[in-house]
Amino acid sequence: MSDKVVLAYSGGLDTSVAIKWLKERYNLDVIALTIDVGNERDFSAVQQKALKVGAVKALVKDAKEAFVNHFVFLALQADALYEGQYPLATALSRPLMAKLLVDTAREEGASAVAHGCTGKGNDQVRFDVSVNALAPGLKIIAPAREWGMTREETINYAQRYGIPVPVTAASPYSIDENLWGKSIECGVLEDPWAEPPEEVFTWTRSPDKAPDEPDYVEIGFEKGIPTTIDGQEMKGVSLIQWLNELAGRHGVGRIDHLENRLVGIKSREIYEAPAAAVLLQAHQALEAMTLSKAQLRFKQKVAVEYADLIYNGLWFTFLRQDLAAYVKSSQRFVTGTVRLKLFKGSSTVVGRKSPVSLYSYGLATYDKGDQFDQSASPGFIHIWGLPVRTQAQVQMLSQKEKGEM
Ligand code: ARG
Repeated sequence: MSDKVVLAYSGGLDTSVAIKWLKERYNLDVIALTIDVGNERDFSAVQQKALKVGAVKALVKDAKEAFVNHFVFLALQADALYEGQYPLATALSRPLMAKLLVDTAREEGASAVAHGCTGKGNDQVRFDVSVNALAPGLKIIAPAREWGMTREETINYAQRYGIPVPVTAASPYSIDENLWGKSIECGVLEDPWAEPPEEVFTWTRSPDKAPDEPDYVEIGFEKGIPTTIDGQEMKGVSLIQWLNELAGRHGVGRIDHLENRLVGIKSREIYEAPAAAVLLQAHQALEAMTLSKAQLRFKQKVAVEYADLIYNGLWFTFLRQDLAAYVKSSQRFVTGTVRLKLFKGSSTVVGRKSPVSLYSYGLATYDKGDQFDQSASPGFIHIWGLPVRTQAQVQMLSQKEKGEM
């Protein structure tokens, strides 16, 4: 009896070829594991294909809820945006997939896990480091990193073994999708001077083809988690799907990112992430109202760290747990509603309210009802400006003497 390997199977060309290759090269029986993280697809067709190509078993797991509740919403609460641009859709899905690979390997008594990543990207790092963290010693095989075939050779290999080559293999683009966003690479996009052709966008309308009337949407948050749309309660998965549809229709969420990969390469990535764009914007707008200035300043630093850590494949680390504990604590008063206007490619916050708002009308107003004690300001300024005056008196004078000012 051969040993078994659990392969993260997408149904695409590389992972289909990998089923045959793992048998040929390592004499391993392949259990194909397809994970549904909201990349809408005909999963029973994917399953049939795995079996047809030679997998001994083909499993499909719906991981949408786990993805949203244990990964996406934690990143949202953290305001995680890699290099200020990328909402981390792919990066967040990989540790979850690694966890399911490890769980399945244990259930099925497999001695190894496998994934279809090449040796040039971030995803190999995320899979390998996550599997190492969860199951030190479990063997990891990355066929596409090992076999050294070009795209054309892979297609030839597929044809030789009667593996159906999906039409998407004819497309010049490399695509990854889940609920939190879609990424598009390769083809003409590898020229950073070339404007992305309209055909790469499938989630968002071109802003000039967007409706001529704006849509307003009210997103309700409870402790930093979005729970209602226009006053109606909605579960995470449906809420995100609903916003992807609505904001996408208005052309919101297109991102063109010249990105720094962990492996040292700069790459040009196009993303479509309408729900992520709107939710991150709304969440920050509510934090501006419910967190103190000092909390906001510190949280922005944590957001950068958190985003880097997710991007760099370090989800299953103790540092991530520590940051998560801080973020969770920071969200205890991030409750309220944000109103946004979606129109011709832009999303604008036009209103916000919270039962625990720190915005005080009485302090802010210039109208009657002003409660701010202006007579206290000169004293405050006297002390605030003390070190400035001290330094100016001593050093500006000597600078002037030397003609430096
Ligand atoms: N650059 C993005 C990231 O590293 C997207 C990667 C997409 N992955 C893929 N296999 N197509 O997260």
